Amino acid sequence: MDYTYASSSGSGDVNLNDTEDLVDDPLCNPEKPLRITFEEITSAAYKIRTGIKNTPCEKSHLSDLTGMDLYLKKDFQQHTGSFKERGARYAMLMLNEDERKRGVVAASLGNHAQAVCYHGYLLNIPVTVVMPLIAPIMKIQKCREYKANVIIEGRDMAEAKKVACKLSKERKLTYINGYDHPHIIAGQGTMALEIMEQVSDIDAIVVPTGGGGLLAGISVAVKMLHPNIKIIGVESERCSSYSQAMQNNCPTFTPIEGTLADGLAVPEVGFNAWETSKNLIDKLVVVKEESIALAILRFIENEKCVVEGAGACGLAAILDGQLDELKGKRVVLILSGGNIDTTILGRCLERGLAADGRLVKCKVTVSDRPGGISELCKLFGSIGVSIKDVIHERAWVTSDVFSVEVKVVCETRDYNHSMELRELLCSKYKIVKFENFPPCNRN
Ligand SMILES: Cc1ncc(COP(=O)(O)O)c(C=O)c1O
Repeated sequence: MDYTYASSSGSGDVNLNDTEDLVDDPLCNPEKPLRITFEEITSAAYKIRTGIKNTPCEKSHLSDLTGMDLYLKKDFQQHTGSFKERGARYAMLMLNEDERKRGVVAASLGNHAQAVCYHGYLLNIPVTVVMPLIAPIMKIQKCREYKANVIIEGRDMAEAKKVACKLSKERKLTYINGYDHPHIIAGQGTMALEIMEQVSDIDAIVVPTGGGGLLAGISVAVKMLHPNIKIIGVESERCSSYSQAMQNNCPTFTPIEGTLADGLAVPEVGFNAWETSKNLIDKLVVVKEESIALAILRFIENEKCVVEGAGACGLAAILDGQLDELKGKRVVLILSGGNIDTTILGRCLERGLAADGRLVKCKVTVSDRPGGISELCKLFGSIGVSIKDVIHERAWVTSDVFSVEVKVVCETRDYNHSMELRELLCSKYKIVKFENFPPCNRN
């Protein structure tokens, strides 16, 4: 398909307030959405074959835990840590000579930006990326390493996109939408061709969903070759724009909240992505943040894989019990990215441990006489529970003045070990409160 881009010249600093009418993304026209075809995906696969890794799709150690014959498509192993390179490389290879010389501009929370910067660097195409203020630091730094012009502007993706579109007009740069440009969608679909070669008799493929480009590309390729394979989209409860589109039968603006799945934080599904995928997907699941944290923890502990929140959503849906109909079936999870800030990873692991019942917070009211707190600590030690933090409170305790409330954060082996601790404390003390656990079984 031969696409043309509208462009005009202009000048002046980017002002978010006067860009309202300037959003010019001619290949993503809500009035005339495009439907991407299987042929475009196969030609993308041919074009990008030498510049993109055919990543492994391996049987998972989590198969027993989940009760599924689980396979993991490890696309976080691409050079920049995400599948986004597929579409980015294809879109850049499809530019004509003149467009290549002038360069491209993209707006992205990080993975698309990194992919465009890296392949622009390899193909010698100048790249400008606009990243919103909330983009993870690690992703911003990586883009700079690829010698791109990195602009940090806009509170969210919608604002960053406005800035990018304005720059596209002013500087005659080709704007590459990260989830709705037809070449991007076709490029992302190439992953499905690999999966179907790598694993036979697949029952379902679970696809993390943000703007919908990956879901659209995957669903076209899969439904053409194996229409019986179920396509299941997953998004975070904090950015459920595809579910909103399904409810309203068209892409709908959906407010975004901070999420561990930052790669999925797109407020409106792409119009081409929606048009392409809406009749091809079998189910859409919305997952809780704590399940995403737990999934990240499981990937690290069981698979030795660092997967970012967006890429862990498929497992989160399974751990949430939202895909129980797939038990006993052969299921492929797409691990779409692995770019997570180390600080966020640390917080994620703590949340995952808490969600797993292994990091526990409790309050126990004990005697304020000498030895009262030490007796409590000995009890923890007696069953092998390790204390991480102890804080005691005297002033705001409502029971007698000879009592002190002790708040303890501790690590246990597993949920049952935490239950054992709760029963032990309840057998020795009158006032025991565990956060996120049911009350004690007192007689
Ligand atoms: C790691 C990761 N997974 C999944 C997605 C979702 O892709 P799409 O926006 O095409 O739905 C993204 C988007 O940036 C991502 O970065």
